[in-house]
Amino acid sequence: MLRSIDGVPAMPLVSASILSADSGALREEAVRLARAGADSIHVDVMDGHFVPSISFGPELVRALHAHLDIPMQVHLMLEKPESFIPSFADGGADTLIFHYECSEDLRHLAGSAEGAGCNAGLAINPETRFGLVRDAISLFDLLLIMGVHPGSGGQAFIDNTLEKVKEARAFVEREKLGTVIAVDGGVKPENSMRIINAGADQLVVGSYLSSAEDAKEAIGRLKGIID
Ligand code: DX5
Ligand code: ZN
Repeated sequence: MLRSIDGVPAMPLVSASILSADSGALREEAVRLARAGADSIHVDVMDGHFVPSISFGPELVRALHAHLDIPMQVHLMLEKPESFIPSFADGGADTLIFHYECSEDLRHLAGSAEGAGCNAGLAINPETRFGLVRDAISLFDLLLIMGVHPGSGGQAFIDNTLEKVKEARAFVEREKLGTVIAVDGGVKPENSMRIINAGADQLVVGSYLSSAEDAKEAIGRLKGIID
């Protein structure tokens, strides 16, 4: 439960996505973002089926793991995610995030991730209503609400995502769940406080951080501690 510690609101977390980084310098970029204060590194995995693009695999996670002292969250935008649980877990993933839209048995997936030593996350696309996953939330450590259509970085935030964040926050509070509410895609300092105030614990940020010369300052802006 990140929302508050003894009644004091907790600092929102920033998970840095390396999707928009220079592909020839992924390790350097992940280390730069970790040193700048990112709370975790977000690795976007795409298979060319669930989303049109292809991106990273378990070998990248393994290669980064040796150089990072912060957790890695792996966002699995692929079909048949269960078959990839062992390889990403062995590579050093801390959290495996599955998409509701391509998952059949959520209880089994969450249990398999936990059995492999990872936290389990559930991601939902912009078109997916919160009500469809409400009953499954308690199985997961993290709910990833997409603020853009999955598949690429640098898209504009879809504003009605905020309503879904509010709905998820109200549900998590009412049921006294520890599920972290994260928002992925289109997050920038211009909208980060609205997303946090709607109830998000964690922001997943790609292109804004990759293009920031001073990543520490950029993270401070996202968290609302630097104007
Ligand atoms: C989109 C990915 C995001 C992406 C976010 O499919 O899931 O994690 O990297 O990038 P920005 O912050 O550029 O929207
Ligand atoms: Zn992502």
